[in-house]
Amino acid sequence: MSLDDPVHPLAAVTHAAPHDYYRRLAEGPPLRFDARLDCWLATGTAGVQAVLAHADCRVRPLGMAVPENLAGTSCGAIFAELVRMNDGVRHTQPKQMLASALGQVDLARVHQSTLQIACDHIPLSAARLNDAMFELPLFAMADLLGFAPTQWPQLAAWTRDFVACLSPLSNSAQLAGAQLAAASLLQRFKFLLREPVPDSLLANLIGLLSQTCEATAGLVGNAVLALRTQAGLQAQLRSDPGLWPAMLREVSRHDPAIHNTRRYTACAVEIGGVALPPGQMILVLLASAGHDASVHAEPGDFVLQRPVSPMLTYGHGRHACPGQQLAQTMAAACLQAWADALAGMPLGWRYQPSLNARIPVFMEGATA
Ligand code: HEM
Repeated sequence: MSLDDPVHPLAAVTHAAPHDYYRRLAEGPPLRFDARLDCWLATGTAGVQAVLAHADCRVRPLGMAVPENLAGTSCGAIFAELVRMNDGVRHTQPKQMLASALGQVDLARVHQSTLQIACDHIPLSAARLNDAMFELPLFAMADLLGFAPTQWPQLAAWTRDFVACLSPLSNSAQLAGAQLAAASLLQRFKFLLREPVPDSLLANLIGLLSQTCEATAGLVGNAVLALRTQAGLQAQLRSDPGLWPAMLREVSRHDPAIHNTRRYTACAVEIGGVALPPGQMILVLLASAGHDASVHAEPGDFVLQRPVSPMLTYGHGRHACPGQQLAQTMAAACLQAWADALAGMPLGWRYQPSLNARIPVFMEGATA
């Protein structure tokens, strides 16, 4: 371990340079107990895939479908229906509906429309960039869902308020704001759909906005940083705009938005020869898979032309992200629209406090 290492894997999410730390974690055993965090760690491609593929490693602790602080609230009612937060058979149908609807999206059209929206909202200051990297993907998603442009800013604001209920770091004012936002989103979706639909469908439509929100903002923000920190990248993309998708793929591997997810053992399980009792929490270090040197040569280097490999920052197995292509497409369009305007802007940055999402917060003036 080096002196500059993050103090533990949760601190790596917002650490200035966690890449080598993740590479070394990926070299170690795929599954190990971390006494400091009092949980198991799944690392590297093998550890991450094995845990996410295991039927008895569940997304929620047994007997706690909804976090205690959300029980009996509007946010809790939505949370209980989200396919992302459930393993039960009841969620098979909404899950298939989502996957099939998202699978039919015309990505070339989404690219064009997002490019247009992003060109209409070029951020000309650090403060605008901080908002725009959240708003633009949400505007694009609201457009796809059929909302009129006049509704997009309000929907984006409610979504940002709603996602606060999903973070363990939120305070009571943020949780109260999330409840109001949840009620408003439910109402707006009911109005959009015009005829009664099951609560599970409504919740998962809201889930499309909430799943888009922070992760895609992080991808856009980290791509803005790559343009500033990777020598020659901007010029390479200018001379060959066909490289934008590869650029966003490499950001998703090298400096991803989502660094970890969690699983809980539903019974005694054995993974790769390690026996885990029931009720254990496993912190699945998705970002360490992106820095696994046995899969990605020189993982600390930012290289556009890498062999295509699964992007484990989008998960794996039955909860793998169905929005991956959409997120990559929307983020590429935003960056394409904004790159020239951002090139000369003096920007410093830090990271938004979070235990799993790496989202830069930009500041005027200083270049960090
Ligand atoms: C950079 C952007 C994104 C990243 C990094 C990301 C990452 C992830 C990850 C890691 C998971 C799996 C979580 C787990 O297994 O514990 C997931 C699930 C999910 N994502 Fe994304 N996501 C992104 C954007 C989106 C977008 C734009 C949408 C909406 C279209 C979306 C919709 C979903 C849904 C519905 C699930 C739950 C799938 C299930 O449980 O069956 N995501 N995402």
